[in-house]
Amino acid sequence: MGQGCVESVPIPRTTGTVHLIGAGSGDPELLTLKAWRVMQRADVVLYDSLVSEDVLDMCVNTAEKVFVGKRRANHALPQENINELLVMHALAGKTVVRLKGGDPFIFGRGGEELQEVVRHGIYFESIPGITAASAAASRAGIPLTHRDCAQSVKFVTACKKQGAPNDDYSEMLDASQTVVFYMGLHRLPEMTKGLMAAGRDSNTPFAIISHASMPTQQVLIGTLKDIADKQATAHLPTPALLIMGDVVSLYDVFTEYNIGALCQTVEVSCV
Ligand SMILES: C[S@@+](CC[C@H](N)C(=O)[O-])C[C@H]1O[C@@H](n2cnc3c(N)ncnc32)[C@H](O)[C@@H]1O
Repeated sequence: MGQGCVESVPIPRTTGTVHLIGAGSGDPELLTLKAWRVMQRADVVLYDSLVSEDVLDMCVNTAEKVFVGKRRANHALPQENINELLVMHALAGKTVVRLKGGDPFIFGRGGEELQEVVRHGIYFESIPGITAASAAASRAGIPLTHRDCAQSVKFVTACKKQGAPNDDYSEMLDASQTVVFYMGLHRLPEMTKGLMAAGRDSNTPFAIISHASMPTQQVLIGTLKDIADKQATAHLPTPALLIMGDVVSLYDVFTEYNIGALCQTVEVSCV
């Protein structure tokens, strides 16, 4: 057995365990082997709405699968109830898989859930997943950094706790930095206006990538000043990621040769 496959250090267990697993962005082939291995021995799987059917189908058949779906302002279960379920099943001695879209530690409340788990003395492991920013950028062909034009990348949530807008645009004005917005599609007009008012160049390239890594992936390309109008016509669906920065201009350079991009480029012209 290779070193990467070694089981975690044996621990004195009087309870079950919680395995916080990143399910990635939707394509089951982007799941890690480590995640898959643990999914084969789960007793219970608590999963979110961003976990694709294909990924869920990779869990062992005998596992009880519980949808605790979370989508903006539409929680199947409040966070406290999800925490309670995690704890209840683990205290009952079960191997609990908590399966979350993307990476649980990136805008995924993974930290909050683990705080509750350890408060009850339950052992856990955390397995990373491919976050939407990596999946969207990679599959669409938009490198997040490039030595010529993007020396850093920033992941930003468009919404803070309880849905409050994250409008601290003064932190997003560096032309040599790529900014990736999660949960921003519904706030696109307001955000693009805010960014321009704060001083970001209105010609900054801007992309929307919807359903990243899935067969339904679509890409809409524009600039800070016209992307909201383009989206008003194109209506790309959620989940979608927004990428702002000069690296977006590489999309046109790569797209003709990018066989990994199953995606459809949505053409919208603005008059
Ligand atoms: C609550 S956050 C969860 C992020 C997740 N933990 C991750 O690491 O990707 C949900 C947001 O992630 C983004 N997202 C998740 N999956 C996506 C996908 N397949 N395509 C595009 N955006 C996605 C969207 O911006 C969505 O509103």
